[in-house]
Amino acid sequence: MAMGTLEGKTALIFGVADHHSIAWAIAEKLQAAGARIALTYQDRFEKNIRKLTADQPHIPLFLCDVQSDEQLDATFDGVGEQFGGLDILVHAVAFASREALNGRFVNTSRADFQQSLDISAYSIVAMAKRAEPLMQARGGGAVVSLTYQASQRVVPNYNLMAISKAALEASVRYLAYDLGVNGIRVNAISAGPLRTISSMGVGAVRTIFDKVEESSPLRRNISAQDVGDLALFLTSEASRNITGQVIYVDSGQSILAG
Ligand SMILES: NC(=O)c1ccc[n+]([C@@H]2O[C@H](COP(=O)([O-])OP(=O)(O)OC[C@H]3O[C@@H](n4cnc5c(N)ncnc54)[C@H](O)[C@@H]3O)[C@@H](O)[C@H]2O)c1
Repeated sequence: MAMGTLEGKTALIFGVADHHSIAWAIAEKLQAAGARIALTYQDRFEKNIRKLTADQPHIPLFLCDVQSDEQLDATFDGVGEQFGGLDILVHAVAFASREALNGRFVNTSRADFQQSLDISAYSIVAMAKRAEPLMQARGGGAVVSLTYQASQRVVPNYNLMAISKAALEASVRYLAYDLGVNGIRVNAISAGPLRTISSMGVGAVRTIFDKVEESSPLRRNISAQDVGDLALFLTSEASRNITGQVIYVDSGQSILAG
């Protein structure tokens, strides 16, 4: 996509933990296309994000745990002050306890279930509600989230995270329905496996990478840059009439029966 595609646009990006994060690849693509970005971070990754952005002190950084309504309010208020509105929101956060990502799904505890659904699915609702007035001030906007195909078919060990992704994908559709009237589009990218802090918590994750390399139509794993390119498309004018969709960038893996 052409340089300058997002000139004059502002973007708020949730989910950078380190330089392997999908959110970081998206941040780089959106910036390269001309967008001004703001980033949020979780307390435990503050050091990483400050190091990553050390040469770009103009990027606003907001401490935001998505389980905190107060921190969400402060983040979106801060974005309103700094940018005077918002065009793009990237939701790239998810969590499930390590115990819930191994072994039998039937053993999932109530506490783990509630925590995972809150962080991984409810968070996009909480963000969209706060983004809506900021995007309305700009005449519309685009929201992009990240999901994985285990929401549709069983991927052993993905367990609770798959249930959270199913809720996330349905939330994307309902948000697209609600916000469309204000010119705000909401889509999800279903990405193939990538090596990040989060994915390394999934039991036997290596076998998932091997499978893509051995049997996907393109016989190769994807890169975070592939996801960044799709995010750029979904946040740009080129995708103006696409909303409520889950779009796959997975070397075609999801078309296989097994
Ligand atoms: N890596 C993959 O294979 C893959 C594939 C498809 C989809 N995804 C999705 O992409 C998104 C980004 O994950 P990633 O793989 O880049 O891993 P990552 O570990 O780099 O990013 C996950 C992010 O979630 C954030 N997060 C977790 N709990 C939070 C909370 N309570 N408050 C605020 N932030 C919180 C973390 O701070 C981190 O920045 C996730 O939704 C993930 O499920 C990943």
